[in-house]
Amino acid sequence: MTDWLVVLVPLFKSVHITALCVWCGGLIAMPLMLAKHDPAVPQEDYDRIRKATHLTYTLGLTPSAVIAVIAGTWLIFMRDTFAPWFYAKLFFVMLLLAAHVWIGHVLVLVAEASHKVQPPKPYLPISAVLVSVIGILALVLGKPELDWIQFPSWFLEPMDGRLPFEVPRL
Ligand code: HEM
Repeated sequence: MTDWLVVLVPLFKSVHITALCVWCGGLIAMPLMLAKHDPAVPQEDYDRIRKATHLTYTLGLTPSAVIAVIAGTWLIFMRDTFAPWFYAKLFFVMLLLAAHVWIGHVLVLVAEASHKVQPPKPYLPISAVLVSVIGILALVLGKPELDWIQFPSWFLEPMDGRLPFEVPRL
């Protein structure tokens, strides 16, 4: 790796970890906030709570998720992490993204049908987030060999695919 790239790795890791702290922290806070959307509370309070959850999701969680994924994607190539533990990590990241989408879906429901929707009990989405985060951290920090997993050959070698247009060669 060229020297300037080595210098950038800690920077990208800091951005990655800072963004995912906000993202994962937010994913744990959101179900607790959503549970406050009780149709029984006065309309004024309901509106205030709804605004807070909406802003937390759109200005906090989603941008930090995007930043974490972009920085993580750069790190793949900087750190050359083409190993089974990393693919297993991506599986848990997918679960975390599914939890993110689920929480966003509940947010839309409580906004659109405020008096008909009861948000899920917070322990359900929080458990989904915690299982994903613990799985990711165990894999990324332990980097286990996972030799026993049989990957299909197309997963492990270039397939010599071609882009559907001519790429200029230097
Ligand atoms: C699409 C999403 C993600 C991608 C592409 C990605 C990719 C990466 C890569 C390539 C590294 C560098 C690994 C190394 O230096 O050996 C890394 C580090 C790390 N990632 Fe992610 N990551 C993603 C999401 C997450 C999430 C959601 C978490 C936690 C909940 C997480 C936690 C970490 C931690 C703690 C490190 C530092 C590990 C170390 O330096 O040993 N990542 N990530």
